[in-house]
Amino acid sequence: MGGGCLIMDSNPMMFKVKRVLRMLSRPRLKDWFGWFLVMVIVAVVLSAVVITFEDGLFGHQPEPVPGPPGEIDPRYAEALNLGMMFFNVQKSGKLVNNTIPWRGDSGLKDGSEANLDLSKGMYDAGDHIKFGFPLAFTATVLSWGILEYGDRMQAVNQLDSAKGSLKWITDYLIVAHAAKNVLYIQVGDAYLDHKCWDRPENMTDYRPLVQINASKPGTEVAAETAAALASASIVFKKSDPAYSDELLLHAKQLFRFANRYRGSYTDSIPQVETYYKSSGYGDELLWAASWLYHATGDEFYLEYATGDIGEIYANWGNPSWFCWDDKLAGTQVLLSRVSLLGNRKSNLKGLHKYRKTAETVMCGLLPSSPTATNSRTPGGLIWINEWNNLQHSIGSAFLAAVYSDYMLTSRTARLNCNGVLHKPSDLRNFAISQIEYVLGDNPMNMSYLVGFGDNYPGYVHHRGASIPADSAYCTCDNGWKWLFSTKRNPNIAYGALVGGPFLNDTYIDSRNNSMQAEPTTYNGAVLVGLLSSLVTSSSLVSSFS
Ligand SMILES: *[C@@H]1O[C@H](CO)[C@@H](O)[C@H](O)[C@H]1NC(C)=O
Ligand SMILES: *[C@@H]1O[C@H](CO)[C@@H](O)[C@H](O)[C@H]1NC(C)=O
Ligand SMILES: *[C@@H]1O[C@H](CO)[C@@H](O)[C@H](O)[C@H]1NC(C)=O
Ligand SMILES: *[C@@H]1O[C@H](CO)[C@@H](O)[C@H](O)[C@H]1NC(C)=O
Ligand SMILES: *[C@@H]1O[C@H](CO)[C@@H](O)[C@H](O)[C@H]1NC(C)=O
Ligand SMILES: *[C@@H]1O[C@H](CO)[C@@H](O)[C@H](O)[C@H]1NC(C)=O
Repeated sequence: MGGGCLIMDSNPMMFKVKRVLRMLSRPRLKDWFGWFLVMVIVAVVLSAVVITFEDGLFGHQPEPVPGPPGEIDPRYAEALNLGMMFFNVQKSGKLVNNTIPWRGDSGLKDGSEANLDLSKGMYDAGDHIKFGFPLAFTATVLSWGILEYGDRMQAVNQLDSAKGSLKWITDYLIVAHAAKNVLYIQVGDAYLDHKCWDRPENMTDYRPLVQINASKPGTEVAAETAAALASASIVFKKSDPAYSDELLLHAKQLFRFANRYRGSYTDSIPQVETYYKSSGYGDELLWAASWLYHATGDEFYLEYATGDIGEIYANWGNPSWFCWDDKLAGTQVLLSRVSLLGNRKSNLKGLHKYRKTAETVMCGLLPSSPTATNSRTPGGLIWINEWNNLQHSIGSAFLAAVYSDYMLTSRTARLNCNGVLHKPSDLRNFAISQIEYVLGDNPMNMSYLVGFGDNYPGYVHHRGASIPADSAYCTCDNGWKWLFSTKRNPNIAYGALVGGPFLNDTYIDSRNNSMQAEPTTYNGAVLVGLLSSLVTSSSLVSSFS
């Protein structure tokens, strides 16, 4: 890519200097004063050159965009490999090419009570429910990572694995969308499931299905599923066009269903509200419309997100934390892609507001910004919540890494945070600070990614990992001894990212500490996106289509 690299001879400032030097070398000026002048000018030129290098020509030149994925960081490559393995740990169904020795087939009868094959998909965390809302989010974020960073994944041989895991979820979601206005949103009953401590391979408890439909709608979960299938349709567009078309058809129908029959799924079905109750469905409608815009190019979806519905739900100007419940920050970044990289620079007012709000989010994350958030541990980790906090740290880091790449690609030099200017590399360095904390650069000297380094959690709250695969068959209720065993997990859940530390940077490595020690599948998707961004030097972000 052109630009950024200074060639001294073509620097206009150097031409001027050469002229002055030629003047000074005329005989009549060859006295001490002349040499003094020469030294002054040389000093000025040197400092100008230093400033030029530091800040780009004339102050605000963009940073260079390297070409295709460059140098590979072997530590991030190792972490990414682990992150991909965790999806294999979490898979339900009849396993294909299984690489996890302690995993086997499970959930084979899931869906049978409705004559559907819902055996695929992934378990949510350390337990065995398939919760549709966070599962669809997993697929959306995994798609996003592949779309931005498929070339970087390919550079470390992880692209096929990522697409395979994505398809394992989208195959399930397609079946779960059993009719236009019917979506199965859960397999398993959390109350029954949580009465057991067993391996997925040996589940015996009743696994009922839960559906939403026109009379009992669930806008956020239908919209999130639409986002998942729309984004995945872009991923498979070239490699499997027929599958891609199928995904897109379901995505459009689900969006229509979500939009037309408005209501929260936990209002429709109060008995499932204990886990993953959504704080509102407006963000999912905007997020789904944004993904459908990228998948179809249909202006309808962009106008939907930037028009009246945006006015109602986008909460422009106010930053939020990107996670399974709140997709606003993700939508702001995703739509900044349109304003920063779109070939048709849209002048829609709402589009500008999304980008401005994305900037507010980014300024909040940068520690040196005047608007930097205080929600950090003394060790520098973004910290919001005692439960599963790392979701916020890596979610923030992922968005920062993506935004930094959009800035580089669009040759956007600076991000202005209340008068303090920041470069794309500042955002990338923030992202690196979060992942470095996760990988061991923290006050506990502990890696929160299982399998990485030599000091990682040994008591992850994960049923399958806690019960020896060759032990006598454990039924639902005689496996509890493994929860309370004082021995480290017999099976290593490679790639599990635990919930993470408290606000004071401490962590209790205990299997019963589900607040800190339980990994989730959706965090795995965010982690994989983040590591894929960082695994090579920045490359040009390409068009989705
Ligand atoms: C399983 O492995 C075989 C042989 O390498 C390959 O052809 C096939 O695509 C793989 N299947 C899946 C679902 O990954
Ligand atoms: C329990 O799981 C193991 C491993 O998949 C399997 O070999 C065994 O048959 C299962 N036992 C029962 C009773 O389901
Ligand atoms: C619609 O969904 C509700 C809630 O899951 C369920 O009770 C009801 O049976 C469903 N309606 C039909 C016609 O299946
Ligand atoms: C972490 O490592 C540093 C440097 O090696 C050491 O000073 C510190 O005591 C260690 N902290 C813990 C909790 O082990
Ligand atoms: C750190 O915070 C946790 C949770 O608030 C608390 O239980 C623990 O005592 C604190 N540890 C230290 C060393 O302050
Ligand atoms: C395990 O954790 C649960 C929930 O925090 C708690 O109710 C229970 O007492 C704990 N059990 C043991 C043996 O620590």
